[in-house]
Amino acid sequence: MCGIVGHIGTKNSVEIVLEGLKRLEYRGYDSAGISFVDETGDLQIYKKSGRLDNLKSLLKGKNLNTTISIGHTRWATHGEVNDVNSHPHTRGSVSIVHNGIIENADRLREELKNIGFKFQSQTDSEVFLALVCSNLDEKKDLVSSVAESFKKIEGNSAFVVMFAKTCEIVAIKRGAPLVCGSSNNLKELLVSSDPFALIGVADTIFFPEDEVICSFGQDQKRELKFLELNLKPSTRYLKKKQTSSLNSVEKGEFEHFMLKEIHEQPDLIRALTQYYFAGVGKDALFTLAKLKPNRICISACGTAAYAGLVIRDFFEKENRIPCVVELASEFRYRNPIIGEKDLGLFISQSGETADTLAAQHLCKSEKVKTVSIVNVEGSTLYRESDANLLIKAGVEIGVASTKAFTQMALTGRLLALAMKGELESEANQVKITKKFSLLADRIDALIVRTSEIKKVAERLYNKSGFFFTGRGSYFPIALEGALKLKEIAYVHAEGYASGELKHGPIALIDETVVNIAIVGPELFDKTISNIQEIKARKGIIVAIGPEDSTELKKLSDYFIGLNFDGLDELAPVYVNVCNQLLAYYVAKEKGTDIDKPRNLAKSVTVE
Ligand code: G6P
Repeated sequence: MCGIVGHIGTKNSVEIVLEGLKRLEYRGYDSAGISFVDETGDLQIYKKSGRLDNLKSLLKGKNLNTTISIGHTRWATHGEVNDVNSHPHTRGSVSIVHNGIIENADRLREELKNIGFKFQSQTDSEVFLALVCSNLDEKKDLVSSVAESFKKIEGNSAFVVMFAKTCEIVAIKRGAPLVCGSSNNLKELLVSSDPFALIGVADTIFFPEDEVICSFGQDQKRELKFLELNLKPSTRYLKKKQTSSLNSVEKGEFEHFMLKEIHEQPDLIRALTQYYFAGVGKDALFTLAKLKPNRICISACGTAAYAGLVIRDFFEKENRIPCVVELASEFRYRNPIIGEKDLGLFISQSGETADTLAAQHLCKSEKVKTVSIVNVEGSTLYRESDANLLIKAGVEIGVASTKAFTQMALTGRLLALAMKGELESEANQVKITKKFSLLADRIDALIVRTSEIKKVAERLYNKSGFFFTGRGSYFPIALEGALKLKEIAYVHAEGYASGELKHGPIALIDETVVNIAIVGPELFDKTISNIQEIKARKGIIVAIGPEDSTELKKLSDYFIGLNFDGLDELAPVYVNVCNQLLAYYVAKEKGTDIDKPRNLAKSVTVE
């Protein structure tokens, strides 16, 4: 899941590409590199393992005058993390950056070695570079060389190739994200793994489909051409105006993007009903209201899968439609029973998660209608699904997902209500809008009480393990709470159904282990008994539950009281914000890199 950027234009290209890489660091941060064509027409390459800052240090004092460059931020797949394996890879006048995996790389490498190619790195990416160079020797034309080379590789990949001799860039992808951008009537041309890297530079965005060649020319008549692999002009791309502004990619007053994104939630919740009842989203939601599936099959990964569990409750408890939630990475390998009467529902922030895309493809091939709940408009999942509901979370930068979870769950809520016919009358829409506003107000009030949560984090951050427990609708919240803590604080944490702890994990409880006990009004007494079982084994109890419960207050070592009144089925989303803040402050105490936790990437585009 590397991040790739390329630029040709009139402005300083290194600056533009470095800014793009900074925004793409969420995709991987094992190494970073850049190559550009200098004023004499030569290629310059700088690359360094570690964060982008290492590359920036390397560039200090260098002549970086150029208007054409490509860059890369790496999440290692083939080859260890070191300078040589860092991108760009270069041979003669050709330089490439790559995101993805070439599945037949070993065989191709052997073939290329047999005709005299020598490889410097252990990467699969260099195999593509060698292919392009061998084709260039024959064809002397970059576009057709890239086309020929691309036909030979297997697996999902995106490439950006720069040719110093002709000052051109060519990009292509299959099953990996790639977007192009232009501004000022083609004055600046860009390519990237994510439209996010183009904010502030490009005013128009193009989403090419798989195997469409994107060719960027740097002659007087600068052009952006889309071609098929047979080099005929292609119309297989989506063109959109840029709508995101620069402040969506800045932290503002906040120390971390994650904290900024937690704080954004109330406003996003209020805007969501507006978007679906009176805005652009209305048609999409009310068209889907007519669906009458026999069963709903949700597939997603990570936080999105936990949002799926929240959504399952909406469909089963009220709509009485059977609903299963599948981890997308497992789904297609167990030969699932799916059919035309099912609805395939896919949930994803990025819309680029390889496993979720594969699950969607499988459903499509079985003629299952596919609907996605997705954040990034124009993403692969968005384009390939039969219909979409946008979660309208705005750009999410923190690797640990927060606001996207909230918006996914609430978008799912609106879909369930629409399919139940409960959004037809204006009066009902007003009722739901009020309920969403109430949730937003409660989250606002919770955020104001951050110091209480911070105090708990300060006391407990060095404990050896955390069990998040919850029952019924709060079980998914326990899973998501534990995931947040693992992701950013590097603490062992598990989410468990409260009633299940006694079937094994209770053996781990002692005075060093913390139980974050999530207690909603639902199944209150039973959850209390489960807490008592842990208390009896000296576990440290942090109870998050109804503020007026004296029983809970007495039983717990730390108590975070919440006001559940009137929130009903939306209450799990409210409690989840408490867990987000807890994870944030535990991580802060531990001094981890909160927005870019080790080993993770925000968008996982490999299977
Ligand atoms: C990665 C991220 C998670 C995210 C998951 C699914 O693992 O680190 O935060 O929940 O992918 O991502 P998606 O973009 O499909 O929601």
